[in-house]
Amino acid sequence: MTLSELKIFKQTGEKITCLTAYDASFAQLFDECGVDTILVGDSLGNVIQGGENTLSVTMEDMIYHTQSVAKGIQDSLLIADMPYQSYTNAEQTLVNAQRLINAGAQMVKFEGGREHKNSFEILQVNNIPVCGHLGLQPQSVIEMGGYKIQGKDEVGAKRIIDDALALEAWGVQVLVLECVPASLAKQISQMLSIPTIGIGAGVDCDGQVLVSYDMLGINTGYMPKFVKNFLKDNGDIKGAITAFISAIKIQEFPTDQHSY
Ligand code: KIV
Repeated sequence: MTLSELKIFKQTGEKITCLTAYDASFAQLFDECGVDTILVGDSLGNVIQGGENTLSVTMEDMIYHTQSVAKGIQDSLLIADMPYQSYTNAEQTLVNAQRLINAGAQMVKFEGGREHKNSFEILQVNNIPVCGHLGLQPQSVIEMGGYKIQGKDEVGAKRIIDDALALEAWGVQVLVLECVPASLAKQISQMLSIPTIGIGAGVDCDGQVLVSYDMLGINTGYMPKFVKNFLKDNGDIKGAITAFISAIKIQEFPTDQHSY
């Protein structure tokens, strides 16, 4: 899977699948089942490290898990998250993005919009592929006052739209939209020529991502409404992954029940 193929998916309307992975074994399974993109998410702060949020995840953690996941992958596109405070200025962003690429990532992802102009631009100049992340930004959970839907009012929606347009202009090649109204995600997906990947953002995004531990029902605590347990009715882990891929490709997931 390449970035050009993802763009073709957008043009042809084929939906993009994405799951998070943190180790080689899960990554290999997802890759063999045909998941298009694999994200080494800083959600590892929650599901691997047991933290309340993602704020304590370090660059060293991300490099270690990216190296592990890269060993399990043959075909899927590997995206790695830049952790909290690892992209506070352009120079730091470039050094840390290069470290993730050297660890095996093909693209780096970081949260936020126009406030990171210099970081987006330096990665564009240095040909490092970037995935943006707008809407709910878990690294800003304290400022956002909790894990809440974003872009519900006109001002909030306009901010996300303007950020999305700026990111595309600064060379971002994929955009994750988290926890925004389905109608807003649809509007943004139609406006952009780069693919959007939604999580809690409705069926009209160009692709869908879930935290793998959530879609396998490994987490037993609070589950946001956009999560679906695909293991429950599909036998084993391979069955769950195959059902996840197929539900996204035929646009049976997410339903209204999983959207805002
Ligand atoms: O860290 C993560 O797993 C993510 C996804 C939820 C998009 O950023």
